[in-house]
Amino acid sequence: DASDIEKGTYPHYMLKEIDEQPLVIRKLIQKYQNENGELVIDEDIINAVKQADRLYIVAAGTSYHAGLVGAQMIEKLAKVPVEVHVASEFNYNMPILSEKPLFIFISQSGETADSRAVLVQVKELGHPALTVTNVQGSTLSREADYTLLLHAGPEIAVASTKAYTAQLGVLSILAAVLAEAKGHTLEFDLVQDLGIVANAMEVLCNAKEELEDIARKFLSTTRNCFFIGRTMDYYVGLEGALKLKEISYIQAEGFAGGELKHGTIALIEDGTPVIAISTQEQVDLSIRGNVKEVVARGANPCIISMKGLETEEDSFVVPTVNELLSPLVSVIPLQLISYYAALHRDCDVDKPRNLAKSVTVE
Ligand code: G6P
Repeated sequence: DASDIEKGTYPHYMLKEIDEQPLVIRKLIQKYQNENGELVIDEDIINAVKQADRLYIVAAGTSYHAGLVGAQMIEKLAKVPVEVHVASEFNYNMPILSEKPLFIFISQSGETADSRAVLVQVKELGHPALTVTNVQGSTLSREADYTLLLHAGPEIAVASTKAYTAQLGVLSILAAVLAEAKGHTLEFDLVQDLGIVANAMEVLCNAKEELEDIARKFLSTTRNCFFIGRTMDYYVGLEGALKLKEISYIQAEGFAGGELKHGTIALIEDGTPVIAISTQEQVDLSIRGNVKEVVARGANPCIISMKGLETEEDSFVVPTVNELLSPLVSVIPLQLISYYAALHRDCDVDKPRNLAKSVTVE
C-alpha cells in the first residue's frame, strides 16, 4: 500500500509510526487469529519450538531489547528456558548449546548482517531457526526454516518504534500458543489483554502535549540521562535509553535499579535526569527506593508508573495492562519523550547522524 510510505500530515515518519502502534497491535491480533477468534501459529512452527529444550534469541539494537522482553514472556508462560544474545557477540563467542536448541532471530528488516552471520553458523550446525521479521522475503526470512511476520507496515524512521511493539506482540502470541501446546493453562485471555494494550496505546498517543512538557522539563539542556527499572521495566529502560541517544544525542544509559549502587550512582550530580519506570508490582517498592537514593545525590527524577501503582510524586502514569505486556505501553511515553527531546534540540529525527536503518555489514 503506497500510502504506507507517505508521511501525510506528519512532520516526521517517527511520529507517524509511533501513532500507528494501536492499529498495528489490532492488526496483529487479527492476523494471528483463526476463524474462532483463537490465537494460532503455524503448527510446524509450534512443533519445532515445542521440541526444543532451550531457545536462543539472537538480535541487534532495538530487536535485541524486544528479545529480552520476549524471553521473559516465553519463560513465564511456556516454562521453556530462553537465552538472549547480541548477534555480533554470539557470532564470535558461541556459548555451549543445549542438546536441542532452536534459534529465534528477531530483525525488523531481516537484513542485519550480524544476525545473518549467526544464522549461517547455526544452519551449518543443523539447528532449526525461526525469524521474526517485518519483511517477508528478507534474507533472514528466506534462510531460516520458519518465519513469523510483524505485519507492522514499512518502518521508515531509523529509530524503531512500531516494529518493537509488534515484535513484543508476536513474541507474546508465540509464548501463549507455545504454553498451551505444552499443556499449561493461561490465567488470562491474550486476545482481550492485547486489545486492552491497543486501547492504552491510543490514550498514550493522545498525551503528546504532556510528554512534550516532560521532555522540555527534563531534557532540553542536559548532557546525560539515566533510565532505571527492574525486570520488565529494566528492559524497557534499555530501549528508552537507546531511543534517546539515537535521535537526541543525549548520553543515555539504562540500568537495573539494583545495579546503580555498584557504580553508576557515582555519575549522579545535581540535576541529572533519572527516568524511573514502575509497572511491576513485585518491584515497585524497590525501584522507588532506588529513586530515593538518586534524589539524595541531587538527581532530577521523572517517575513513569502504571495506574494502580502511582503516587503523587510521579511525572506520568500509563493505563493499567497485563504486567507481562506492560513494555508495549510503557515504551510509548519513552518514544515520545525522545522524539520531543530531539525536536527541541533541532536534531534530524528521522535520519540521525552515523546511523543506518539496517546495517548490512558486520
Ligand atoms: C540498526 C538500526 C536499529 C535496529 C538495528 C537492528 O542499527 O539503526 O534501529 O534496531 O539495526 O535492526 P533489525 O532490522 O535487525 O531489527
